[in-house]
Amino acid sequence: MATATAEAAAATAPPPPPVAPPAQSPSALQAILYSRDSGLQLLDQRLLPFEQKYLPVPTIQDAWQQIRDMVVRGAPAIGVAGALALAVHVFAKGQLGGQYDSAQHAADDVRDTMAYLVTSRPTAVNLADSAARLTRVAAEAAAKPGATARSVAEAADAEATLGEDVAANRAIGAHGARVLLDAVGARKGGERGGAGGKPVRVLTHCNTGSLATAGFGTALGVVRSLHEQGRLERCYCTETRPYNQGARLTAFELAHDGLPATLICDSAAAAAMALGKIDAVVVGADRVAANGDTANKVGTFSLACAARAHNVPFFVAAPTTTLDPDCPDGASIEIEQRPSEEITHFKGERVAALGVEIWNPCFDATPGGLVDGVVTELGVVPRRLCVAEDGVGAAGGGASTSATGFVHDVPGFLSKHGVQPRGGGGRAKEEPPRENGEAEEAEGLSADALRAYVAAKPALAAAVGGGDPASWRVREVGDGNLNFVYLITPAEEEAGGKGGGAANAATAAATPASSLGLAVKHSVPYVRVVGEGWPLSQERARIEADALQLHGSLAPAGMVPRVLLYDPQAAVLALELIPRPAVVLRRAIESGAVLPPLASSIALYLARTLFGASPFAMDTPSFRALAARFANPDLCALSERVLFTEPLCLSHPNNRHTPGSAAFDAEVEALRADPKARAAALALKRRFTTEGQAVLHGDLHTGSFMVSLSGGGGGGGKGCGDQPSSSSSSLRVVAIDPEFAFVGPIAFDVAKVIGELLVSYFAADGREQQEQEQGKQQPRPDRASQRRWLLRCALDVWEGFCREFDALWAARAARVPSSDEQHGGAAVATAGTDLAPPALVGPDASVAGAAGAEALAVAQREWRATLEADVLSFCGAIIVRRLVGIAHTSDMDGIEDPGRRAACEARALRYGRSLLVGGDGGSGVAVAGEQQQQRPTVRAALRAAAAARLADGLADDGSGAGVAEGVKSVPEEPIFMPEL
Ligand code: MRU
Repeated sequence: MATATAEAAAATAPPPPPVAPPAQSPSALQAILYSRDSGLQLLDQRLLPFEQKYLPVPTIQDAWQQIRDMVVRGAPAIGVAGALALAVHVFAKGQLGGQYDSAQHAADDVRDTMAYLVTSRPTAVNLADSAARLTRVAAEAAAKPGATARSVAEAADAEATLGEDVAANRAIGAHGARVLLDAVGARKGGERGGAGGKPVRVLTHCNTGSLATAGFGTALGVVRSLHEQGRLERCYCTETRPYNQGARLTAFELAHDGLPATLICDSAAAAAMALGKIDAVVVGADRVAANGDTANKVGTFSLACAARAHNVPFFVAAPTTTLDPDCPDGASIEIEQRPSEEITHFKGERVAALGVEIWNPCFDATPGGLVDGVVTELGVVPRRLCVAEDGVGAAGGGASTSATGFVHDVPGFLSKHGVQPRGGGGRAKEEPPRENGEAEEAEGLSADALRAYVAAKPALAAAVGGGDPASWRVREVGDGNLNFVYLITPAEEEAGGKGGGAANAATAAATPASSLGLAVKHSVPYVRVVGEGWPLSQERARIEADALQLHGSLAPAGMVPRVLLYDPQAAVLALELIPRPAVVLRRAIESGAVLPPLASSIALYLARTLFGASPFAMDTPSFRALAARFANPDLCALSERVLFTEPLCLSHPNNRHTPGSAAFDAEVEALRADPKARAAALALKRRFTTEGQAVLHGDLHTGSFMVSLSGGGGGGGKGCGDQPSSSSSSLRVVAIDPEFAFVGPIAFDVAKVIGELLVSYFAADGREQQEQEQGKQQPRPDRASQRRWLLRCALDVWEGFCREFDALWAARAARVPSSDEQHGGAAVATAGTDLAPPALVGPDASVAGAAGAEALAVAQREWRATLEADVLSFCGAIIVRRLVGIAHTSDMDGIEDPGRRAACEARALRYGRSLLVGGDGGSGVAVAGEQQQQRPTVRAALRAAAAARLADGLADDGSGAGVAEGVKSVPEEPIFMPEL
């Protein structure tokens, strides 16, 4: 290569040379040594752990050979070593770029040198990434006016790679430790991992530590971070066949750092998981494709399969330099084949039988669908729906994912962080790791992806009215905790509401002017508001589809949205729109709504769905088959934790209550210190988990109903005193979002409705005081009317439910048995197995005579008594958890002044606690376990709610009278529906 002349060098007046990085002193775990003076040296990892020897890398050819022979290995380390080999190369003869005769010559040499190095090991992308980046910057530098060989060589700042990698690894470690702890905490109910659970046991594969990187490590960096935080119980490392990187290198690093470590054979991993020894797996990567398919050391795929089979979270930890957005999927990754001797020989001696063929792939591609999170220095790569050309097909997650499915969105993630495509620019700035519990930004579907998805499905496209998909309006309307919800409407349809009522509804407040359009619900594989750290089965979309169909067939017409499509691969549900103007019930109540017709609709919905989806209404083999479809373990676990466990724990990190009030603090403390309250919560959890009476909605709070008023009743802007009576209006009520559907105690669904109405009742005082103080809202909602209505509504829901349930029961008992049932025909095996067999409780004299009718009456009385007690206790738990648990409601939270809010909450808490422990809310009926004279009733409990206000010195608003015993006819409040 020609050198520049002294004259030419003088004429170009080069800038002062860049400051050389300080010379490094070797430490046991330093794979790469570099300084301008002594050049590049690589720790010969083939000799570890018993010999530490650095080999000089004087030429590019040496670099190629040493990378190929695995003197240095591990994707990032190879990338750094290759870049530093270039640094040595451009410093040849001690003068930066001195060997080139022009800027273009220098740029061409950078390109050719790096292209050659990349061929040494093809699978890992990091070296290719270094090559693309250095080639690009050299070419750009050469194109600048006045460019010189030296300026090009300087621009190709290969030395910088060293520092970048260590910083990135520290960030990966911090992000990875957080999501791993969250994921373990979520799966182990907080017992391990999470914010305060026991330390975790992590399995890792191959070597991804200091030796594989410029320092600290990627997957092993996550392990190191956990250890630094005191959250690592043990690291299991796999031996790693056939090259033993785990046994020789990872074990060496772990022992060197003094981490608790156990070495296992690769093939022992599934057994370790089955024995419960492993809480999470974290591995590195050589290349992560655009969809999250991950090439890593062979054996990674088997580990991911085993992890999935044992519900163990599986993470990939890699710097963004290992992400390859240009590679579509795992099938497109070139898998390096290694020499046969690595299998046939051990320490130079043949161990394999002669005559056998060898297949020795060094890596494998794990489908992204098996990866719970790809953790980078910039955070976790989000996942989103990927729509195939034809909009149909199997789920993503396979090594080849050209079909519609769910993938890690590598390109979107990189572009969001400003990381240029390979060879297209510098890397993005690191983001500081988020604090524990802080929400990962959740990514929804793009409008175009949704349009393409809907357009590809004729039934859905027709629901939007057809036409040009590009003209469809797509809005993300949900603010739900679990899922993304979108409305897709024709262009000409304007939003019918102001959107303020959009909640976690499948069909939210801002529904369009006509019923053309759809609601699309997308269940991501984690809790939407928490992010990847709280995985959640996408099976909930299937459960929801099934529940909507089941309950839709049982409930009064129009009370359940129609399912237009359930796509199991994409975990997408498309539903009919609820015609406008529909608002979420909770928002309406918050704004002061008074809706007398609500109770009868809800009572009918409850009775018909709960009766119809139970063995009261079908033979037990049919019921058991139905029940099998509603196991819903993930969401049941969520309810079990947040309803019955956490709120009673002394210091659970998920709990919160309004701070600043000593009196309220004392109430909360007393509740949690009360053994009766804890025992009651436990008893309710037992009922919740063991009493499979019917397929429940499972989450029937006031945010799970949409209401719309037609006729003359809309209050919008007028005081409720001016409202027409309910007779001139009709209220449509729709129950939505049954993803929590499960087979449980009937009392639970009923109690959810009543309990949430009671929370609103106790919040109404705070709202009223706030509204008076602010004086803004004109006309001001009449909260006294609302309180009377809320209590009355709760009572009417209960009584209406009981009436309808009993009527359904009696009607079924009165059915004429089929001749099979009577005479032992084909249905004989199932005949009489239901809970209303005419032969036992039917009124037909020819079958059972008067005894049947009497038996039914007795059974109904007993059933009612048990149910009523259970409803009240569940109500107690539901109220309590809304005040001191993780998920509060906006009714209370919207009371801005903390003192005022705490006062309302303290009143509600005392009341809820009394219900929980078997009392009636405080009106004097003794609690369970004490000398109980009289059994609590819903009516008495509602009266007690009114009494609780009076006991606190609040003015009588007549709500007690509205539910008092003996008051047969209470004038209905007129409908008031605020304008939202
Ligand atoms: O063949 P190797 O030892 O280079 O394989 C290494 C791996 O597979 C690592 O997991 C990967 O390169 C990531 S290292 C941070």
